[in-house]
Amino acid sequence: MSSPHIVILAAGKGKRMRSALPKVLHPILFRPMIHYVLDTALALPHASLTMVVGHGEDDVRKHCENYPTVQFVKQEKQLGTADAVRAVAPRLAGKTGSLLLLSGDVMLLRPETLALLLESHAQHKRACTVTTAKVPDPTGYGRILRNATGDFTEIREHGDCTPSERSVDEVNSGIYCFEIADLFPALERIDNRNQQGEFYLTDVVKILLGERKKVGTFLLADPREMEGINDRLALSKVESWLSARINRQWMLEGVSIQHPDTVLIDTTTRIEPDVVIESHCTLIGARVSAGSYLESNCRIQNSEIGRDVRIKQGSYVEDSRVGEHCSVGPYAHLRPGTVLDRDVKIGNFVEVKKAHFAEGAKASHLSYIGDAEIGKHVNLGCGFITCNYDGTHKHQTVIEDHVFVGSDSQAVAPVTIGRGSYVAAGSTITDNVPAGSLALSRGRQVNKPNYKKKPG
Ligand code: UD1
Ligand code: CA
Repeated sequence: MSSPHIVILAAGKGKRMRSALPKVLHPILFRPMIHYVLDTALALPHASLTMVVGHGEDDVRKHCENYPTVQFVKQEKQLGTADAVRAVAPRLAGKTGSLLLLSGDVMLLRPETLALLLESHAQHKRACTVTTAKVPDPTGYGRILRNATGDFTEIREHGDCTPSERSVDEVNSGIYCFEIADLFPALERIDNRNQQGEFYLTDVVKILLGERKKVGTFLLADPREMEGINDRLALSKVESWLSARINRQWMLEGVSIQHPDTVLIDTTTRIEPDVVIESHCTLIGARVSAGSYLESNCRIQNSEIGRDVRIKQGSYVEDSRVGEHCSVGPYAHLRPGTVLDRDVKIGNFVEVKKAHFAEGAKASHLSYIGDAEIGKHVNLGCGFITCNYDGTHKHQTVIEDHVFVGSDSQAVAPVTIGRGSYVAAGSTITDNVPAGSLALSRGRQVNKPNYKKKPG
């Protein structure tokens, strides 16, 4: 069996989404849906990979820049699925072998399932194999019609079906395998005399049968794999199913997930065993090492969490690295460029941006630390703030190892607080502090005795 040419249809407008965004770019678990289809296609051996684009072409191409092997073909006007396939004729018509046709809005199909489809197509030496499924609610799908002896005769679109044909529960998934030599001549014979006035690819079935070509079906074991995303209801349904599939896999691999239906983990996240994820967490492009614990309502995005870390409730970690044995939160915000070495503590209501905390450093309460280098075992008291922005530029604060900063202090950057120094509570540090000093910059307390008048 030679590798098939793969074609993905993605030129349609997706009217039913009621959106300015082309349908195939709508995100599912934080990635455009077309990326999933491309990943599936690339997981299969293939002779070529072509995507038919049209509506929102520039946007769609731009979002596929990370897939350099895809070739694009433009469908000038969206006249229907048969017309879309016709657009690849100049590229493929003379070729031999099979064409696997995927749809940009059917993204749960697994490569394993498509491999079975290709096998069935080759084994039965068919001109066309239609992937079908039996679904509880066939509304909107093309129905698989059969004669009295059960032979497949044609696909009829929902809008063109009689009431009794509408009760057929076997439907067309929109995923097919064709022999290239049979497909392109048959496409030329398709007309648009139907309820939608479109050139339906589905009509190819009765044309091929009329030419005494072999046509058959491949029934999916799990009908969810073929769910087509036509509106936002289907979008949310497919996202839930994908999420359940991903979470199930992580649980089987040793990750505990509390209330998995509230936890969203994207396909690019990697998690080691013995991680615990409480409810309502979101992980996007995260790496979480063994033994770490994410309390509820955390979002970890493009970040690495080392071993045995605790991310406490409600924390948001983006484009950051958290070393082993750290504790973050509750309600902490690690913004891009935060790097925490091991044993760092970032406490409640602390915001960190572009800052490096060396081993054992702490900012336990209510702080903002931006553009800073924090040394080993530094203790930043409650309410410490780096004043890093002068209205035009950002400046660096350097706090060397073993510094103790008292509560409610500020460092007006650029400024360096030398190794082992102390900053008295309530100080505003504007000048560099030499190592080993006590810096004190607040008004002295004055007590005025007998200030309050005696009664009477
Ligand atoms: C199609 C099938 C239907 C099947 C369903 C499964 C036809 C006529 N109908 O219906 O039998 O049950 O898929 O999901 O094929 N597209 C283009 N250019 C066009 C029109 C569509 O590229 O001119 C693309 C769309 O972007 C989409 C795919 O083809 O990726 C399917 O089109 P869509 O309009 O969603 O077809 P359905 O009505 O879902
Ligand atoms: Ca569809």
